[in-house]
Amino acid sequence: MSDHVSPFRADLLAGKVALVTGGATGLGLEVARLLGAHGARVAICSRKEPNLEVAVTQLRGNGIDAMYSVCDVRKPDEVAATMQRVLAQFGHLDIVVNNAAGNFPAPISGLSANGFKAVVDIDLLGTYNVSKAAYEAWLHQHGGAIVNISAATQYRGMALQAHVVSAKAGVDALSRACAIEWGADGIRVNVVAPGAMAGTEGVARIAGGELGAMPHIPLQRAGSTTEVAQAVLFLASDAASYMTGAIVVVDGGAWLTSGTSTPRSM
Ligand code: COA
Repeated sequence: MSDHVSPFRADLLAGKVALVTGGATGLGLEVARLLGAHGARVAICSRKEPNLEVAVTQLRGNGIDAMYSVCDVRKPDEVAATMQRVLAQFGHLDIVVNNAAGNFPAPISGLSANGFKAVVDIDLLGTYNVSKAAYEAWLHQHGGAIVNISAATQYRGMALQAHVVSAKAGVDALSRACAIEWGADGIRVNVVAPGAMAGTEGVARIAGGELGAMPHIPLQRAGSTTEVAQAVLFLASDAASYMTGAIVVVDGGAWLTSGTSTPRSM
C-alpha cells in the first residue's frame, strides 16, 4: 500500500459505502484503501477468504471501516448474497468498483474455448452480474456511481491476450449501455482503463515479472496502483458529477504509441 500523500480532500467520500470486487489484492486493494482513506466504508469481495481476511485486517489497520464477502462474480447467487451482506452491515451502497478480473498469457492456438470463456465470464459477465445485482438491491432507488476497471490493450489489440481484449472491449461497451439505461436513476457508470502497473499480479502474469525501462510509453515508466486508484476515486466522487459513459485511460499514454511488446507466441 502506498504512503503517497493524496491530492484529494480527506473527506471526499465521507458517508459513502463502496464495494470493490477483487478487492483483496493488487489494484483492487489499493482502490479499497484509497476510497477508505477518503472517508468511505469499504466492502471487498473475492473468491479467496484467506486473502480477504488479510486485506480487511490491513484496511482496518489504516483506520478504515471494512468488511468482506466471499464471492465469485461469475455466480449470480453469490453476488446477490454479497449485496445483502453489505446492506446488512453498512445500511446502503453508493459506489461499486468492478475490478475482479482474470488473466493469463496464451496464444489463440493454445487457448481452449473454456479458457477464453473463463476470462470473459470473470471480466465481462462478472461486471454485468455485480452491476445488475447492485442496481436491483439498492442503486435503482438511490442512485450511485459504478466504476468498471477495463484495460487499454483492446484499443489496438495485443498478442497472447485475445480472450482478455475481447472481455475488456465488452466491459467498455457494457459500461456505456448501463450509463444510458441508468442515467435517469441517478447512476453514473464510468470506466478506468489502466496500463501496466508495477508490482501487480497482472504484470507478473503478462510481462513475466518486473517492468524494465519503458521508452515506448510517453511518460517513460509504468504506473502505480495508486495512480490508477486516484482515477477511480475521482470518478466515484461528486467531482465527476456530470461524467457518465466515459472511459478514462490511465496508462502514461502507452496505448497511443505501443501495440505490444509481447512476443506473438510463447
Ligand atoms: N494458458 C492456456 N489456458 C489456460 C491457462 C493458460 N495459462 N490458464 C488457464 N487456462 C484454461 C484452463 O486450461 C481451462 O480450460 P480447459 O478446461 O479447456 O482446460 C480454463 O482456462 C479455465 O481454467 P480454470 O483454472 O479451471 O479456471 P478458474 O476459473 O479456476 O481460473 C483463470 C480462472 C483461468 C482466469 C485463472 O487464471 C485465475 O483464477 N486468475 C485469477 C487471478 C488473475 O488472473 N489475476 C490477474 C488479474 S490481471
